[in-house]
Amino acid sequence: MSAFNPSKLFTQPLKTLAQVTALAGALASFSVLAEPVEIKFSHVVAENTPKGQMALKFKALVEERLPGEYQVSVFPNSQLFGDNNELAALLLNDVQLVAPSLSKFERYTKKLQLFDLPFLFKDMAAVDKFQQSEAGQKLLNSMKRKGVVGLGYLHNGMKQFSANEPLLLPKDASGKKFRVMASDVLAAQFAAVDATAVKKPFSEVFTLLQTRAIDGQENTWSNIYSKKFFEVQSHITESNHGVLDYMVVTSNTFWKSLPGDKRKIIKEALDEAIAYGNKIAGDKNDQDRQLIIDSKRSLVVELTPEQRQAWVDAMKPVWAKFEDQIGKDVIDAAVAANQ
Ligand code: SIN
Repeated sequence: MSAFNPSKLFTQPLKTLAQVTALAGALASFSVLAEPVEIKFSHVVAENTPKGQMALKFKALVEERLPGEYQVSVFPNSQLFGDNNELAALLLNDVQLVAPSLSKFERYTKKLQLFDLPFLFKDMAAVDKFQQSEAGQKLLNSMKRKGVVGLGYLHNGMKQFSANEPLLLPKDASGKKFRVMASDVLAAQFAAVDATAVKKPFSEVFTLLQTRAIDGQENTWSNIYSKKFFEVQSHITESNHGVLDYMVVTSNTFWKSLPGDKRKIIKEALDEAIAYGNKIAGDKNDQDRQLIIDSKRSLVVELTPEQRQAWVDAMKPVWAKFEDQIGKDVIDAAVAANQ
């Protein structure tokens, strides 16, 4: 369909006031009819999580700064796409922004496996320091050749183990089945304590736990709370053994299709929304941890330094298996962020 051109309504030069008024009217109705460009942002978590809140902030900022021109539609809770298809949908331009956990990019790059190495970062400040470093920023470009553009890192927090028994020592996990995100490193992490890892999408975890098809899982406080995993797991071990953060990504095709001035405004809005999400992530996880404790549905177990060290000793050998794929230089840079 060819674009509507109101000036074609007049084949002769405009002469009378009536003609000018008619043209102005036609132009006004044209601008009313023009649809804003829709940016779809799909994610798998609830709205009351760091990622859910960040997505809503992004929508508010874009629609405030580009009113009538761009509209952001946010689809939480795997409503539009889930773990198994969101990146493929991005490359098909069926969705324009997604923010999968860093554990879910394995098919597109092996470099991001770094973030799954158990006991790599001592806390979220170290994670943030690494992500903002030169080595961390370089990883945002690690999927460019596959058409995936990294726009920024977004925090959730540190992961905890949960099960229907207290997990105090690695031997307590032995023989049990744990759900993991689609990551070979996470599978190896559980194999290191003689447990079985089952790769399943986030949307299936609650039912798998509820029906006891699996024994346990690992996640952040905000995900354990917002998806009610604590209602179907009797114990949560405060292990802080790994990080669950995100990369906000778009497709090269969509990103390049945006006019330069609009892309700049959208990127600024995204940076601000990410800064907002990162600011609330720590508090959100602390609050949700407390809500879980207060609920008395699940017992939160703290580890002694000796118990924690036993998990470190059992799981850290996993690093060596993935060193070649990730790159020793990148691992060293991440370790240095703990200083
Ligand atoms: C998410 O936080 O996006 C989901 C994490 C998971 O799959 O466990």
